[in-house]
Amino acid sequence: MTAFTPKPWPRKLRSQEWYGGTSRDTIYHRGWMKNQGYPHDLFDGRPVIGILNTWSDLTPCNGHLRELSEKVKAGIWEAGGFPVEVPVFSASENTYRPTAMMYRNLAAMAVEEAIRGQPMDGCVLLVGCDKTTPSLIMGAASVDLPAIVVTGGPMLNGYFRGERVGSGTHLWKFSEMVKAGEMTQAEFLEAEASMSRSTGTCNTMGTASTMASMAEALGMALSGNAAIPAVDSRRRVVAQMSGRRIVQMVKDDLKPSDIMTRQAFENAIRTNGAIGGSTNAVIHLLAMAGRVGLDITLDDWDSLGRDVPTIVNLMPSGKYLMEEFFYAGGLPVVMRRLGEAGLLHKDALTVSGQTVWDEVAHVVSHGGDVILPVEQALAPHGGIAVLKGNLAPKGAVLKPSAASKHLMKHRGRAVVFEDIDDYKAKINDEALDIDETCVMVLKNCGPRGYPGMAEVGNMGLPPKVLKKGITDMVRISDARMSGTAYGTVVLHTSPEAAVGGPLAVVRDGDMIELDVDARRLHLDIPEAELQARLAAWQPNVAPPNGGYAQMFHQHVQGADTGADFDFLRGCRGSAVGKDSH
Ligand code: FES
Repeated sequence: MTAFTPKPWPRKLRSQEWYGGTSRDTIYHRGWMKNQGYPHDLFDGRPVIGILNTWSDLTPCNGHLRELSEKVKAGIWEAGGFPVEVPVFSASENTYRPTAMMYRNLAAMAVEEAIRGQPMDGCVLLVGCDKTTPSLIMGAASVDLPAIVVTGGPMLNGYFRGERVGSGTHLWKFSEMVKAGEMTQAEFLEAEASMSRSTGTCNTMGTASTMASMAEALGMALSGNAAIPAVDSRRRVVAQMSGRRIVQMVKDDLKPSDIMTRQAFENAIRTNGAIGGSTNAVIHLLAMAGRVGLDITLDDWDSLGRDVPTIVNLMPSGKYLMEEFFYAGGLPVVMRRLGEAGLLHKDALTVSGQTVWDEVAHVVSHGGDVILPVEQALAPHGGIAVLKGNLAPKGAVLKPSAASKHLMKHRGRAVVFEDIDDYKAKINDEALDIDETCVMVLKNCGPRGYPGMAEVGNMGLPPKVLKKGITDMVRISDARMSGTAYGTVVLHTSPEAAVGGPLAVVRDGDMIELDVDARRLHLDIPEAELQARLAAWQPNVAPPNGGYAQMFHQHVQGADTGADFDFLRGCRGSAVGKDSH
């Protein structure tokens, strides 16, 4: 049973510090709000619920969230709350340069202040595209007022010439086919329109779907939320139900810190293994745990995920898409299977006020081969593998379910790209000394190096290798990889090259050993040689000259702890300074 005890209701809420009483200040606050036509009795002490909306025309994955927000509002009104919709920073994965990840912390900081500085008693986090989910959860966790996540839901299946087209996954695939001469540019253009045929987020188990699943597995969203397609009427139902629910959460004072416990994170990490989720979840969950003061580490990811089979047969690891995952029962079925296998903390609390097991114990599976039986898992050990060695003293990650079995143990000659521009300049050169046995090494794409840690780790193979029909090679970088991507790709190598990690001193021709089973990543040069190279290393990334980029450069932490800003870790609560009016 959960240890949570609801607070007595009624009681005075924090929004009354703005709206309660007859002082000049409260008249000032209420008076301005009344210019929107709100009746006086709405300021009577009922819960004021902020709907933090990441809608933006330039975040197309969240383009439908204003409509969804109306359903959230309806639920809040029905339950006796007072909804206020608040636009917040929206970091679009497919638009922001140099990479949306550079703005996750900025968005989290803005959201945190938007909650704390304004009259809210609780909030609904209306999110979807990759970074919008972790940034809002991080911000809300640092304030620790009651909060519930509502995601926008995935797009419907894409189809091109009768075959499923997965967001991102097929972009990489078609692009490689064009390079290999297996697809024309005209066909590629024709395929473009098939990739996004409805509103919503990426339809693969990419980062958006993964983070929606992580929010649900953490207990921060209503059970079943993650998989409902954006255009399905049930998406609007869950939005309305979440609106109703947040009002009661405020009355009960059920906060993120009650829900986002170590048990909840362990459930989420295991769930990520079961769904074949994105490697980006590693970074985001580490950062989110830091906001609630939990010391979740890369080692937790490795140890907790090792025995978790990947049973969700979705791209990029498998063959189906989110729409089919929903029809098969979605995440509750997966969590039920985890519970039956003894891989779930059943007592973890959720936003419903019930335990996770209360929510999933009786769900019915229509899994077919979309949610597989454990005995037929896509990968028996599906969690994220955390590699260590002299090339990654603080760790690097690899997603076994998206990797090639024959490359999981590999020794190869390094072909080094000093940065992404160097890679782009060389990769199509027929004279590049590379074959499929080599190990591609990309430097200076970590949090500080890029800056922002772009999703370039699954760098495309050289055309001369692709033309042989080879589709995978070992690739190592300090970058991230899109959750829609695949391959034997070692990511997040820490410390990153831009701060002088060993990756910075790898040279063309060095031999590198990867052994996923042994969790080993080794640069095969004498230790004295490695130390001499490290001692001679000089920074080659110029610090930004002012602005947010400078703040980012100065404060971003390594990927191994979640790449949050050093000064943003932890919970600062909801107390706010006195009014100055
Ligand atoms: Fe926004 Fe995939 S790019 S969800």
